[in-house]
Amino acid sequence: MKALLCNAFGPIENLSIEEVAAPVAGPGQVVVDIKAAALNFPDALIVQGLYQVKPALPFSPGAEFAGVIKAVGEGVHHLMLGDRVIALVPHGGLAEHCVVDARAIIPLPADMDYATGAALLLTYCTSLHALQDVAKLAQGETLLVLGAAGGVGIAAIEIGKLMGARVIAAASSEAKLALCREHGADETINYASEDLRERLDALTGKRGVDVVYDAVGGAYSEPALRATAWGGRLLVVGFATGDIPRIPLNLALLKERAILGVYWGDWAKRNPALQQAQLLQLLSWFRSRQIMPPVTEQVPLHDAVDALQRMASRQVRGKIVVLPEA
Ligand SMILES: NC(=O)c1ccc[n+]([C@@H]2O[C@H](COP(=O)([O-])OP(=O)(O)OC[C@H]3O[C@@H](n4cnc5c(N)ncnc54)[C@H](OP(=O)(O)O)[C@@H]3O)[C@@H](O)[C@H]2O)c1
Repeated sequence: MKALLCNAFGPIENLSIEEVAAPVAGPGQVVVDIKAAALNFPDALIVQGLYQVKPALPFSPGAEFAGVIKAVGEGVHHLMLGDRVIALVPHGGLAEHCVVDARAIIPLPADMDYATGAALLLTYCTSLHALQDVAKLAQGETLLVLGAAGGVGIAAIEIGKLMGARVIAAASSEAKLALCREHGADETINYASEDLRERLDALTGKRGVDVVYDAVGGAYSEPALRATAWGGRLLVVGFATGDIPRIPLNLALLKERAILGVYWGDWAKRNPALQQAQLLQLLSWFRSRQIMPPVTEQVPLHDAVDALQRMASRQVRGKIVVLPEA
């Protein structure tokens, strides 16, 4: 089968498409014929050796996909050949097939296409956990989303609106902000051309926002934290800028603000029952079309390197999905 391969940690451009042995389903496993795999920022980090997890080499990046069950291992009775499924894996999704623990397989809803299914889990689960469990976002509060046109950002906008918040989306271009508005943002800030703090003061009448969803870090985190109200919460979701900011702790003291870490993958492992409930919540929201993963591009496997490079260099809106069979 064809797979995008990382033979050594390093620049994304070093990844190559190679012919590798097709995986075999061991006991308790299934092999999925991948129809669509979504790109996520951690895929770009993992191949460069910059992610908290470093897989054994060589490996294929790619953490979420949708497809069809192609083989079923011994002891798996609840899945059948041909079942349409979605899966989240540590890596291995940017390939024609992937072997998956059968317990990690989720049925693909009948009314969901492969590209949408591939782009749902990681970002929406992260943002639901961040806003509901960590920030405890309340109805009527104001939510600021940084990097709002990215994968977790759009999910945060949609879920923030569903939780009854006023949502301010910040991103670096008008095209990105237009996508944020399409997905429900009430107000937008172009933080490449406008002063983030001044605009937030103006939009909130100097009261400040209640929650900041920060997946970008760098020079944006501190002004965003300074623009929070009494009791404001800053969610530390990621550092897409590559720069981990050092925040003066007096900012926490002054308005009893909280700086809260979010690590959805680890939380989900520690709380499988809560994670299952959140998954059902997301599927229910999808059924009523209250959430819609922002798949903006679908590309063949041989364009995956270019797509990953564009994602890592800020040139993508929403999510790119790779189609291994195209
Ligand atoms: N904590 C968790 O559990 C968890 C789970 C999933 C993802 N994450 C993290 O969340 C972050 C976002 O992931 P994602 O998949 O949503 O990524 P994404 O779709 O690529 O979005 C990231 C956004 O960050 C902004 N950005 C600002 N400076 C950037 C730079 N120098 N390079 C690239 N992007 C830059 C971009 O928006 P503008 O151009 O508008 O600024 C971009 O849209 C990543 O750091 C990822 O590791 C964390």
